[in-house]
Amino acid sequence: MKQQIEQAQGKLGILMPGLGAVATTMIAGVEAVKKGLSQPIGSLTQTGNIRLGKRTENRLPKIKDFVPLANLNDIVFGGWDVYEDNVYEAAVKAGVLDTHLLKAIQPELEAIVPMKAAFDKNFVKNLDGTHIKEQKSRYNLALAVMEDIRLFKEKNNCSRIVMVWCGSTEIYNEPVDIHESLEKFEQALVDNDLRIAPSMIYAYAALKLGIPFANGAPNLTCDIPALMELAKETKTPIGGKDFKTGQTLMKTILAPGLQARALGVQGWFSTNILGNRDGLVLDDPDNFRTKEVSKLGVLEDILRPDLNPELYGELYHKIRINYYPPRGDNKESWDNIDINGWLGYPMQIKINFLCRDSILAAPIVLDLALFMDLAQRAGMSGIQEWLSFYFKSPQTAPGLRPEHDIFKQLIKLENTLRHMMGEDLITHLGLDYYETPEENA
Ligand SMILES: NC(=O)c1ccc[n+]([C@@H]2O[C@H](COP(=O)([O-])OP(=O)(O)OC[C@H]3O[C@@H](n4cnc5c(N)ncnc54)[C@H](O)[C@@H]3O)[C@@H](O)[C@H]2O)c1
Repeated sequence: MKQQIEQAQGKLGILMPGLGAVATTMIAGVEAVKKGLSQPIGSLTQTGNIRLGKRTENRLPKIKDFVPLANLNDIVFGGWDVYEDNVYEAAVKAGVLDTHLLKAIQPELEAIVPMKAAFDKNFVKNLDGTHIKEQKSRYNLALAVMEDIRLFKEKNNCSRIVMVWCGSTEIYNEPVDIHESLEKFEQALVDNDLRIAPSMIYAYAALKLGIPFANGAPNLTCDIPALMELAKETKTPIGGKDFKTGQTLMKTILAPGLQARALGVQGWFSTNILGNRDGLVLDDPDNFRTKEVSKLGVLEDILRPDLNPELYGELYHKIRINYYPPRGDNKESWDNIDINGWLGYPMQIKINFLCRDSILAAPIVLDLALFMDLAQRAGMSGIQEWLSFYFKSPQTAPGLRPEHDIFKQLIKLENTLRHMMGEDLITHLGLDYYETPEENA
């Protein structure tokens, strides 16, 4: 495979529907890193190492020196939003980064102006933006998005483009017949079927042009048969969904540990206060439902009550998100976990995570964009399960259980990189370190 990977030559355009808190924090971060003002902490592609070969070989290069990723200096950003604020104005309003830092990169951020959004208020009731495309049918909206992409690519002289959905969480939507095949989906676009979500219009436009698409929100988007079919047809990588940050990140770090030690879990109560625009959107029960479904699957899949009823058969998992404006992007989450140990004796764990949502999400957007671009150049297409590491609700082949355990997800990601580069996969068996030279012979 190594010989087949095309080098990252020329400019990479990262296009994001939704230039809100997450997207602007990512863009500003990359610009600040490029100027040497900050460090890309939390980004595996920029700071992570990967072990190669045996432990005795001591080969631990940086991931960015091991696989041919796009250089930060070769990235151009763009996107769409229902509000017309440029990225500087949107970042100031999001209130995530301090103005001192934003001022230092103001010209770069002001130069990024959102394109008009393909939007339908029925999918996000709590937004009132007016920077919206006027095309009436979903098919014409898709054509308009494709035209935006072509113009962006030409104007910025990009050799490649990737798209990451950083838009608001849309209302809960289940797959129906029009999502079942590409043929039905394309007919539904022409018929302007209102069951096609705006996020699907962007995904369709991207995949039609062979542009990798990752979904950072929990809504149903590229995880429908029609778009999986299109991804296959145009040999394009897809992945999703819902960036794994905050409380769910903690869950997928802690739950595998409890399960590994065969400790029982009776209950996991999670509540949050959040005051950014995302919190406002999630204040609508239909939008919250999408997020809730995405968050709920995690524990069941890690703990497997079906296989271990004596440990997890009673598991009660409850999640709440409360919109609380004074906190802005600085979410606070509380988890109460009721566990039991030897002979069933009960114990409790409390987590109080004072996190910053967009600070945790921004490096994920960057990594996903860079890895999706790598996957494309490596000739990998369709669902990129090796990027599950970044998602709350990883997309997998139909019928295949997702892997939620963050440590297994990391092993999968690293082994995929080793596989791409023709290095031995690491099984962590390690018996060979204890074999005598005669046994080895
Ligand atoms: N921050 C996190 O930790 C985190 C974690 C997981 C998932 N997410 C998801 O990422 C997404 C972005 O989060 P955020 O905090 O930046 O939210 P945000 O509200 O600040 O930004 C989202 C932006 O998308 C825009 N938008 C909505 N529909 C659009 C459309 N059809 N086309 C173009 N723009 C559209 C909105 O106007 C808004 O500016 C949300 O769906 C959120 O649930 C965030």
